[in-house]
Amino acid sequence: MTTRTLLVLGCTARQLPVIAAAQRRGLAVVGIDPDPAAACAAAVDSFVAADLADAEACLAVAQRVRPAGVLTFAADYPVPMVACIAERLGLAGPSPSAALAMTDKLVMRRRLSAAGLPVPRFAPVDGPASVEAFGGPAVVKPTRSAGSRGVTLVEGDDLASLIAAARAESADGNVLVEEYVPGHEVSVEAITVCGRTTILAVTDKVTSGPPDFVELGHTQPSGLTGHGPGLAVLTQDTLCALGLRSGPSHTEIRIGPEGPVVIETAARFGGGCIASHLLPISAGVPAAEVAVAMALGETSRVETRSKPGTERRTTRGAAVRFLTPEPGFVRSISGVDEVRSRPGVVDVSVDVPVGGEVLAMRSSRDRVGHVVTEGRTADDAGRLADRAVSSIHIETVPAR
Ligand SMILES: Nc1ncnc2c1ncn2[C@@H]1O[C@H](COP(=O)(O)OP(=O)(O)O)[C@@H](O)[C@H]1O
Ligand SMILES: [Mg+2]
Repeated sequence: MTTRTLLVLGCTARQLPVIAAAQRRGLAVVGIDPDPAAACAAAVDSFVAADLADAEACLAVAQRVRPAGVLTFAADYPVPMVACIAERLGLAGPSPSAALAMTDKLVMRRRLSAAGLPVPRFAPVDGPASVEAFGGPAVVKPTRSAGSRGVTLVEGDDLASLIAAARAESADGNVLVEEYVPGHEVSVEAITVCGRTTILAVTDKVTSGPPDFVELGHTQPSGLTGHGPGLAVLTQDTLCALGLRSGPSHTEIRIGPEGPVVIETAARFGGGCIASHLLPISAGVPAAEVAVAMALGETSRVETRSKPGTERRTTRGAAVRFLTPEPGFVRSISGVDEVRSRPGVVDVSVDVPVGGEVLAMRSSRDRVGHVVTEGRTADDAGRLADRAVSSIHIETVPAR
């Protein structure tokens, strides 16, 4: 029997769980990433350096390797190309139209508000005058980016540089302004099979808040009470309005003063350890295996046993907290081994070496590591993770 191939778009470290899951199943993994030195370039069976927005280059690879499936695990940027290849080769995946609506926040907002779903008031930005006319409090953000890059609360009057910073992070250079919605934030992990969505978990977010909104931690299962069924229905309606009929999704929702509003949704599982670490612990869902099975079109093998729209019965609490030391150059790192040995600590990763630079915390890419924990409840896991990060000392000296 010939070996089947899985095409993985994006080979950053966050793709490792699906690469490993596919290889455990005996699939050959072909990876594409624009960076020839990408973290998983050596982990895949065959690696191609190509821009993931270059349809000609990516389709040429796909036509050559004839994969049984194509996917990205928890990265947003490759989603449109996953859809393009899936459509061209007749594979499972989001449609190009759903992929566009789920990566371009302006298209997303327009379609969701046309469907009558709750989203922040929004407008496209073509210069400082459009932000001034919009009024406040407001958030400026790139239409096509991720990880809170270029997302900023409008403060002060240097609107031109705020817009320029958002534009620089936007894959198509476009920028959006929207009403700032205060309130608790959650994300909803789900899988959709033939248009039927199952909620796997709701995650509570810890963020740095305005002005930069960096995600500092996630906890599962969510402690929100009273909103559960509403969040499930809102997630299902959101995915339906955007045309996602198959595959994993990650939907971010804020509980605003007038109820839940959709901040964004993505046609892939959540990053920041949500899918890779938290889902298996708190919901018993092996997300990487599920993502591979869904990409292969094996709908009968994916986890759909719970009733549509209901949250799975959770078993354990799970949490991740990110390491966010003071900016500067790292002089010393201590406490890591001791934290690793603590009961309930599942994973510790320090991604900056002594001598390396810690940047000011403006987006997810400025975080320098994480601690994942499990506990009897979400609160237990969260407390353990908070204590763990405060016991890891990354001493920095200010950059001169
Ligand atoms: N309209 C808004 N009101 C309040 N907070 C927002 C709003 N838009 C974004 N945020 C905050 O910024 C974070 C990042 O914005 P998001 O639209 O999710 O962009 P990204 O694709 O970079 O994650 C959100 O998780 C949320 O905390
Ligand atoms: Mg987001």
